[in-house]
Amino acid sequence: MSADPNNYASDMSRLQMEISVAEFFEKNRHLLGFENPTKAMLTCVREAVDNSLDACEEAKILPEVYVEIKGVNGSEDHYLIVVEDNGPGIVKSEVPYVFGKLLFGSKFHRLKQSRGQQGIGISGAVLYAQLTTGKPTRVYSRVGDGKVYVFDVMIDTQKNEPRILNYMELDSEGHGVRIEMEIKGRYVRGRQSVLEYLRAVSLMNPFAQIVFVEPNGNELVFERKIEELPPEAKEIKPHPHGIEFGMFLRMLKDTKAKTLVNFFVNEFSRVGKDTAMEICALAEISPDRTPQRITREEAERIWDVVQKMKFYAPPTNCLSPVGSEAIEKSLKAEFNPEFVAAVSRKPSVYRGNPFLVEVGIAYGGDLDPEGPVTIYRFANKMPLLYQQPACVITRAIADVDWKRYGLSQPSGSLPYGPLAIAVHFASVWVPYTSEGKEAIAAYPEIMKEIKLTLQEVGRKLSTYLSAKKREKMRQRRISIFMRYSPEVVAAIHKLTCVDEKTVEEAITNLLRTKGLHNKEETEAVVEDVVQEAEEVEDIIEGVEDKDVDSGQESKGLKEKRIEDINEGVKFQSNPPADVTENDSTIESREGKNENKGNDEDASTPSTLKKWMVIE
Ligand SMILES: Nc1ncnc2c1ncn2[C@@H]1O[C@H](COP(=O)(O)OP(=O)(O)OP(=O)(O)O)[C@@H](O)[C@H]1O
Ligand SMILES: [Mg+2]
Repeated sequence: MSADPNNYASDMSRLQMEISVAEFFEKNRHLLGFENPTKAMLTCVREAVDNSLDACEEAKILPEVYVEIKGVNGSEDHYLIVVEDNGPGIVKSEVPYVFGKLLFGSKFHRLKQSRGQQGIGISGAVLYAQLTTGKPTRVYSRVGDGKVYVFDVMIDTQKNEPRILNYMELDSEGHGVRIEMEIKGRYVRGRQSVLEYLRAVSLMNPFAQIVFVEPNGNELVFERKIEELPPEAKEIKPHPHGIEFGMFLRMLKDTKAKTLVNFFVNEFSRVGKDTAMEICALAEISPDRTPQRITREEAERIWDVVQKMKFYAPPTNCLSPVGSEAIEKSLKAEFNPEFVAAVSRKPSVYRGNPFLVEVGIAYGGDLDPEGPVTIYRFANKMPLLYQQPACVITRAIADVDWKRYGLSQPSGSLPYGPLAIAVHFASVWVPYTSEGKEAIAAYPEIMKEIKLTLQEVGRKLSTYLSAKKREKMRQRRISIFMRYSPEVVAAIHKLTCVDEKTVEEAITNLLRTKGLHNKEETEAVVEDVVQEAEEVEDIIEGVEDKDVDSGQESKGLKEKRIEDINEGVKFQSNPPADVTENDSTIESREGKNENKGNDEDASTPSTLKKWMVIE
C-alpha cells in the first residue's frame, strides 16, 4: 500500500468488499456456541432437537425424537451425530436453504413462542461440521408423499449459498427429518453434556418421547409423561410499544395499507380504528395519508404520540406455557422428590413482547442434600446449560431471600439444600445475551416476574418445611415416650395391678386412635402421656423413698395414687371394651398374660415394637 497519505484512501478502497454472513461465522464460530469440542457437540445436537420439537409442536404431532452419537472408526474426537424426528418434514425445494444458508428460517419474522428464532441454528451446525471434518451433512426429509428426499449439503461460505453434493429420491412412507452430520467433538458425561441436556429437555417437554444412544451403545429412553401437547401458540402482530423508531419507519415503507389509519389497524395488535384515528388526530396528520409518503419528521411526531398513549397489553395466546401440573409431573418422575410445587404465572410484557414465567421446585428424594440447589434454566422449553452466572434466572434466584422459606443461603448467593429449581421463561422473543442462546438478558420486567414466581413457590415450600419440622418434633416426642414406655407399663402395672399387656394395649391404642389421624391431637395426647409417665416416675420414686422410711405410710399413698392412675388410664386411654374395673376380668387377663408372657420380649412389648419404627 502506498505510503503517500493522498493515495491511501484509494488504495484502501481496493480492499473493501462484502463479507458473507457464512464467512463471518466461519471465523466467529464461538458466537454460535462452537468454541470447544465438548460444547460444539452439544450445540449440534441442541440445534437439531430444538428444530424437531418446534416442527412437531407446530404440526400438532406428539414428538418422537431419536438421537445417536457414534465414534467414527472408533475415534474419540470424530463423531457422527444422528437426529431423527416424526415431524412434518421439509419440502424438497427448501431443504438446501434450511441446511445450506445461514439466516434462513420460518421463525424470525413472526411473533409467536418457538424454540428457534434466528434462522441460523442448524445451518451453523452444518457449517461447523464442514469446517472440522470437511464432510457434507446428509439430510433425509419425508413429507408424507411416499418419498424420502436425500441431500448431501454443504455451504458455499463466500456466497452463503447451499452446495448440494448428492441428491436421491427413494420410496418411503411416513414423515419426518433425519440428519446425519460428522463433526470433530468430544463426548462427555456431566452437567453440560448431551445426556444432561436431553434429560432437561424431557423435563420441560413431558409430551416428548426421546431416545438417546451414547457412543458406547448404551440406550436411554426419556419416556413421554403426558399425552397432550401444550396449548398452541398463535402468531400475533407487534404491539405499538414493542417497536423501535427505525422499525416503525421501515413498517411505514413496507406496509400494503393505503391509508395511515389502516396501517395502524392492520400492522399492530391492540389498535382499533378509534385508537388509530385518535393517534392521527393527536399527531395532527390526516388519517387518509399514504403511509409511504409520511416524512421522517411526521413519523417522529406520530411516534411520540404512540409512546405516550396507553394500549391494552398484547394478546397472550402467542405463548404456550407448559403448565404447573405437567411441570410437577415431570419433576416427580425425574427426582422422586418428597415435595413438588409449580407455578405458572400470568403473562406480562417487556419491550412490547409478551412473556410468562413458570417455576417448578422439587425437594428431597434423589437430590443432593449438600451444596447449592440445582438450577434448571429454560427458554421457550429448551434448557440453557452455559453462562449460568450471566443469566437473569440465576440472578433472580440469588436475589430471593430463601431463608424466609426455610433454606440456608449465604448472603448474595444461591440457596443450599436438596432442592431443584426449574425456571421456564417463555416469550415471543427471548432476549438472549448472545447468538449462542445461552443466557437471558436481565430486563427489569423479566427479573421482577421471575422473582415473584420464585417467591410464590417459595411460600409453598415454606409451608411444607414447617409442617415437616412440626411432624419431626411430634415423632421425637413419641419416640422419647416410647423409650420410657416399658418402664411406664411396668410401673403402672406395679401400682394398679392391671396386667402389663392391658396397660400396653391401652397406651398403644390411645396413640393409634387419637394420634395417627390428627397431628394436633397426637401432640396433645403424647404430651399428656409423657406427663403421665413423668408422674408415674415421680410416684415410683416417692413410693420407694417412703418404703425406705415407713412401710405403712407408703401403702396409703400408694393406694391413693393407684386410684388416681386407674382413673387416668380409664379417662385417657378409652380402653378396649373388654378392659373394665371388674376384678375377675383383671384376673382372667392376668392369667392369659402369664401364659403368653414367656414368649414376649420383656423389655419391649410387642405392640410397642411397631411404634419403635417411628424413631
Ligand atoms: N426437523 C425439522 N422439521 C421441519 N422443519 C425444520 C426442521 N429443522 C429445521 N426446519 C425449518 O428450517 C428452518 C431453519 O432452521 P434453523 O434451526 O436454522 O433456524 P430457526 O430454528 O428458525 O432459528 P434458530 O436459529 O434460532 O434455531 C426452521 O425455521 C424451520 O422452518
Ligand atoms: Mg433452529
